[in-house]
Order: sequence, then structure tokens, then C-alpha cells
Amino acid sequence: MEALAEQTKPNVDAGWGAPWWQTAVLYQIYPRSFQDSNGDGIGDLRGILQRLPHLVSLGVDALWLSPIYPSPMADFGYDISDYTGVDPIFGTMEDFDALLEAAHSHGIKVLLDLVPNHTSDRHPWFEESRTSRTNPKRDWYIWHDPAPDGGPPTNWLSEFGGSAWEFDPATGQYYYHAFLNAQPDLNWRNPAVRAAVYDVMRFWLRRGVDGFRVDVIWHLIKDDQFRDNPGNPEWHPGRPPVESVVPIFTADRPEVHHVIAEMRRVIEEFDERVLIGEIYLPIERLVTYYGADLSGAHLPFNFALLNAPWNARRIAQLVDEYENALPSGGWPNWVLGNHDRPRVASRVGRDQVRIAAMLLLTLRGTPTLYYGEEIGMADVAIPPDRVRDPFEKNVPGIGVGRDGCRTPMQWEEGPTAGFSSAEPWLPLAADSTVENVANQTGDPGSLLNLYRRLIAVRRTRPALSRGSYEPVAASGDLIVYVRSLDNDRVMVVLNLGPEPVTLTVRGAVSNGPILVSSFGDRDGEEVTDEVYLRGHEGAVIGLDPKS
Ligand code: GLC
Repeated sequence: MEALAEQTKPNVDAGWGAPWWQTAVLYQIYPRSFQDSNGDGIGDLRGILQRLPHLVSLGVDALWLSPIYPSPMADFGYDISDYTGVDPIFGTMEDFDALLEAAHSHGIKVLLDLVPNHTSDRHPWFEESRTSRTNPKRDWYIWHDPAPDGGPPTNWLSEFGGSAWEFDPATGQYYYHAFLNAQPDLNWRNPAVRAAVYDVMRFWLRRGVDGFRVDVIWHLIKDDQFRDNPGNPEWHPGRPPVESVVPIFTADRPEVHHVIAEMRRVIEEFDERVLIGEIYLPIERLVTYYGADLSGAHLPFNFALLNAPWNARRIAQLVDEYENALPSGGWPNWVLGNHDRPRVASRVGRDQVRIAAMLLLTLRGTPTLYYGEEIGMADVAIPPDRVRDPFEKNVPGIGVGRDGCRTPMQWEEGPTAGFSSAEPWLPLAADSTVENVANQTGDPGSLLNLYRRLIAVRRTRPALSRGSYEPVAASGDLIVYVRSLDNDRVMVVLNLGPEPVTLTVRGAVSNGPILVSSFGDRDGEEVTDEVYLRGHEGAVIGLDPKS
């Protein structure tokens, strides 16, 4: 295991007066897959603690841990049976405290995954709720009488296939579940539910966590008139069944902003904490989640790059759309991957992973990395007998499975790539003996070292961490923009195609050195009015101050 880097982490605020989460680089850990410390083939909190040196040397500022709470694991922790505990698979509360303390001692913040939309059906709240129609917790979940024909009350569909309503014979009513039937939705119209979840937040905030990523935040409120969702004429077989209706009555309801503002007020009871929301919506809807007068999420996750065709013109256009749609004072953010979506290396191809990294780390706003992105991990093909994801099990064969992007982190050569002393819970990538942290650490031109250099340059150049974004007109496979703050100006030039290209940008460019070249072999080279790039090459150029 590598030694802790010597560098002391500068105060993230760095005197620029911005909240830490604006200048931070976030890093998502899927705890089952990061590092196993007790030989059961599943990652855990002690494992993450052991691997902190990697995160320190990478230079990230905050970790977001996917759920670590007690759970039957029907949806691998997104089905919670106790909001204020730690599942024994991941360790103990002492392990959590030790990780939090160690991370903080390196200046690294820790964010937890808050899953307020639903619990496990084994959560004591639901176990009580289902006992009778008059139980005080009955209204903590969404119960409804059957339709006149005895069927489900509405046509609402589960994200993971089939009706979103499950009949409970004991009390003769249906309950609503946007995901698995083992994940009943809480009733967020009930003030007692809201108060209970806010207390959960306070429990962790008091313990020292630095904020939350809130799961499916745009789902929290459903239509109180229980109207059917309209059909989606664009749906066709081969797409997930849930897309056959348009979810106008089950998500993105106007009242959701009220409850998010309440959550935000809980966050504000503590200093310097952050509220991040998971939201899959078109840009114009997404930006409403900053809330009226910025009373909503600090960072509504921007997933625009997850589905975008990897095309220079389309990406330049969507960056502009997003920048133009942001409310005044709303801070941007960018994401290339997460535990639900195909990995960026598989989407854009290995030739372009360096360009994707450079884009993520030089656009305006807070970037979030998904574990393994920094070494170019790609999706792993999962043989049918190793499928674990309930989405793939319920809706097989159309490519919705999420196991492929959740495979064990590749640390070093060896039968389990240094992840575990046992058979890992998901198969390892075939290339793990080559593409791993140890090998890439030793190679100055590796992707890992590109990530390190990009993160380091963000820290030293205010233009990159805080500056404005100005697109520079470009054509073909090029994306060009200038970031600037006061006298600090940085130009980013990205070649999304295989052909070499020479860019002439008179007026926008004065002389300056390449701060980071994507292949790692041109750092320090002086650029004058022309920028020559090889195929799939990118450069971050420090522009000399305007005379
Ligand atoms: C979110 C999570 C996903 C989970 C779902 C239900 O989308 O990211 O992994 O399955 O919510 O909790």
C-alpha cells in the first residue's frame, strides 16, 4: 500500500471566500466494491480507511459513501432497515467514527447517502404500518384501496419493473413502491415522517458528517389525487417498462420544493454542511431544484454528461444550455459516472477517457468522480449466473443491469487485484492485472497521474476553481473555452476526434505554458497564437495576463 503523500492539504476555501463544496472535488465510493478488510469478498469501512492514502494522493476533498446502514440488501443498501446504524457487512459505528476522524485529519470531508423516499419493508416503521389500518404509523407510508376491479389503484409503475403497487392481504390495501416491493415509499406529506427523517439527518450531522447526497430527491412527493400517469408514445419494447408512462404524477411535483427547503433548513442548523440532490430531469427542470432564492439543494446533481452523445458540438451546446439555465448564484456541478450508469470509459471509449477527465475537471463547478474512473475502469460483462442487481433480475436482457459498473476497485496485480483475500462479490475486470492503481502510479503518463495533475492545477489556479466560463467558437471535434478570474486566465482545448488539429484563436490567446497535457508529455511547453493537438489530445493552457 502506498505511503501517505507528504503534501499538506491547503484549506479548501483557500481564502477565496467560497463555501468548501464549491471548490471541492467530490469522490463517490460504492462501499461494497472499494476495499474488503475482513475477507468476506465485500468492501467495508475499514477497507476505505486503509485506502485513504490513495484518496489523499489523488487530491480529492470529499467522499460520498453509498449507503452503509443496516439493510436486507435487496437493493444493496438503498433499502434501509435502520437509518442510524451501520450494517455489519460494512463494520460498526466505531469503524465509521474512525473513518470520519481519519478523513477529517487529512482535510477530507465525508458525505453520507440519505435515502428518505423509501425504507426497507423490514424497517420497524413499515412493519408497524402494515399491521392494521388504524396503526399510528399507517399514514407513514402510501396506502390505498384497490381500484373498483380489485386491481392496483393507479397505473403507476415501478422503476424496477411491474406495477408500483403491492397488495397487502392482511389489511386489504395496496402500498406504493417506486422501486422494489421491498422498498415501500414513505409518505412525505405526513409531517411526522418529515420530522423523523430530519432527526436522522441531525443524528449524523452531530456525529460530524459534512452533508448528504439525497437519493431520488425529485420523487419525494406524489400526486395526492392519485391520477394516472399519461402514456408515453415514444416508448418501445427494449426500453425499460417504467418509461411506457410519463411520470408527471409520481415525480417532480411542485410541492417537493417545500420539503427540500425544509431539509435545507436542517442542514443550515450546522456550519458548512452540504445538501446534494440526485435528480434525473431535463436541464430546465433540474435547475428548479436550487429552489426559490436558492432555498433548495446546494447542488442538484447535473447528469447531463451521462447520456450525452460524445460529440464536441453537442457537448459544447449542452454546457452552454446548462450555464444559461442556472439561477443567479446557483453553483454548477458535473458528473461523468455513478453506481447506476455505464462507466464513462465504456461510453466514450478508452481513447477519450483523458478528454472526459479534462472536461470534468476544468468546467465551471464542482466535479464528482466515481471510484475507478481515475484509472479508467470500464464496465465488466457479468455472466448470467453472477448477476446481483435486482433491476437486471426483474427486467432482464435489455441492458439495464448495474453490476457492470460496480465491480471491485483495481488496486494492484493479483487474483483479486488487492481488493480482498476472498472471491469478490462481483467479478473483476479482466484487465485488472494491468489497469490498476499500483501500475498507474508508477507511470508518469498514466490516466491516474493525469487526474492527479488536473486536480492539483484546479487547486492552484483560481480561474479553474472559481472563474467564469467563456466558450470560444470552435468547429468539428474541438471544444474550447476560457476560464478566468481577475488576472488569472486558463484556456482549455479538447480534441474529441482521432485527427490532429491546429487551432488558431487570435485575440483569445496570448502566450502561455501548457499546464496539463492529456498525454503528460507536453507540460510546460509554451503556446503562442496556435495550439497543435494530436488526435484525442487535450491541453490546459495558462494564459499570460492580458497586457
Ligand atoms: C437511486 C440510487 C439507486 C437505487 C434507487 C432506489 O437512484 O442511486 O442505486 O436503486 O435510488 O433507492
